[in-house]
Amino acid sequence: MNGVFVPGGTAIGHNSLALTQNTSVFGPDVDIFRPERFLDAPEPKRAKMIQSLDIVFGGGRWTCAGKAVAMMELNKTFFEVSKQSQLSTNQNIIVLIMILDALL
Ligand code: HEM
Repeated sequence: MNGVFVPGGTAIGHNSLALTQNTSVFGPDVDIFRPERFLDAPEPKRAKMIQSLDIVFGGGRWTCAGKAVAMMELNKTFFEVSKQSQLSTNQNIIVLIMILDALL
């Protein structure tokens, strides 16, 4: 696998925390909770950051069987929070990222 021999029967997993703290993707201050980084990042860096978060559901053949349900629930939460909030669009996005961060 990627040039490394992996014996049959080896359990393989991924470390979501480590992957979502990759400084080359999320910036040098990954140890700081700063959801604004998604607003500040220019395209295509922002697209890369969002795409990289997808790994929290696993990847390849073995992914989360409930991903569609989880995304539907999250989108409903985002919609309800945005609808009732008096905040600006940018502030709403930060609140929604905070909710997502708390859930994950
Ligand atoms: C934000 C919410 C969620 C995250 C981040 C998440 C993440 C994951 C991850 C990383 C796996 C392991 C994938 C692998 O084997 O490599 C998994 C498996 C699974 N998840 Fe989720 N999950 C979420 C929500 C849900 C929900 C809401 C359901 C059910 C409605 C669900 C059902 C499952 C099931 C059944 C598996 C086992 C799939 C299999 O082994 O074939 N998950 N999930």
